[in-house]
Amino acid sequence: MNDVAAKSLFQPDILVDPFEFYEDNRSKNPVFQDEATGAYIVLDYDLISEAVGRLDDFSNNFQALLSGEKAGDAPVKDEELDAIVEKGWPQVDTLLTADQPRHTRFRKLVNLAFSMPKVNKLEDNMREMSNELIDTFIDKGECEFVSEYAVPMPVRTIAGQLGLDRADAGTIKRWTNAFVDRLSGMMTRERQLETAREVVDYQHTLKANMDDRRKQPQQDILSDLVNAQVDGERPLDDAESLSIVQQLMVAGNETTTAALAEGMRLFATNPDQYKKIQEDPSLIPNAVEEVLRMSSGSSGIWRVMHRDAELGGVKLPKGAMVMMRYHAANRDPKQFENPNEFQVDRKNARTHLAFGKGIHMCVGNMLSRKEMTVSFQQFAERIDNWQVADGAELSYPPNMMLRGLTSLPLTFNKK
Ligand code: HEM
Repeated sequence: MNDVAAKSLFQPDILVDPFEFYEDNRSKNPVFQDEATGAYIVLDYDLISEAVGRLDDFSNNFQALLSGEKAGDAPVKDEELDAIVEKGWPQVDTLLTADQPRHTRFRKLVNLAFSMPKVNKLEDNMREMSNELIDTFIDKGECEFVSEYAVPMPVRTIAGQLGLDRADAGTIKRWTNAFVDRLSGMMTRERQLETAREVVDYQHTLKANMDDRRKQPQQDILSDLVNAQVDGERPLDDAESLSIVQQLMVAGNETTTAALAEGMRLFATNPDQYKKIQEDPSLIPNAVEEVLRMSSGSSGIWRVMHRDAELGGVKLPKGAMVMMRYHAANRDPKQFENPNEFQVDRKNARTHLAFGKGIHMCVGNMLSRKEMTVSFQQFAERIDNWQVADGAELSYPPNMMLRGLTSLPLTFNKK
């Protein structure tokens, strides 16, 4: 094992376009220690599926990284940063960074809010939002898809769900950008201070909204969350509610934006596949799975070793950071035939790990699947012949955990 020269996945040029790196390393180095960070990376579909189920070995308690520290950094005392952070609430482990049994309590609460019946109720509203956004550019024959559709669609959906006024969408986007940068592991010190200020700003704004919902509950998730009680336990406290809403905003926005944009890039560059969904719209839900398999927004998620263990014959010491590289698993040829081909009718597309697997599997998976399905249905019905605009340069900012286009200029024909 590990007989190929050590390398680092976490180099900007590789993060921007990691697929060749995965191909070169997956079979020879399914689990390897990253040269630059010392973290371990898992690239193989079966090994990732195994690891995320071994809860006694692999912990989700990686909160330190979400505070903007680089993987492998030792915590450093930083008075200027601490002074900003002290103005807000502490970051507590709720969903993504909590282990059992703590995780179960929060997950039960949030599952209620994101159940299939609740998501189904949003469908008409999503379709209306989708058509409203399409109306803003359909007569031009061109659009910058990320800013004109892929960003506003999920921001508006989640803003509605969190009981925030639609007019706040710009602020929500600014906050989520800050949260995402804190996941990137690549911030300058200046940006670290700036993002800490954004987090505190988010916390105070949300706290005011939460207090309103406690006094006067409404038909939204925020009201459900702050007033919810499961199994007779105490309701969530402020820090816990803030942590959950923060995760819903980040996870619900950037990832779905990236998935929508990747979908349209794939359709624009594979017109035969777009034709297939236009001719047979019943293929659209499967096309959504195939888009997620090819390139979901979430490239990989961390685990921390609870104790010394082994995976795929590689020793992983207690305390080691381990990244489950879901992107790499989704192009594993042992699981997916011709993995680099985009096939909207691929039989096992839905077995992808874009949403993870096991107890931490994405709580918003049904919501984002619905947003993507509704969006692709509306496009297929109203628009023909998507193409990437001549001369457009597509770029992905380097980020350890998320990957998404910054812009996608497209041309098309109105039907
Ligand atoms: C295409 C869109 C999305 C992708 C690719 C995605 C991806 C993921 C992945 C891979 C995980 C698993 C983490 C792990 O293994 O530890 C996850 C968890 C999570 N996702 Fe998503 N997600 C998406 C959309 C959403 C949406 C729309 C929401 C909420 C509105 C959301 C909320 C969450 C939360 C709260 C968790 C943590 C769950 C837990 O630890 O129990 N995600 N997501």
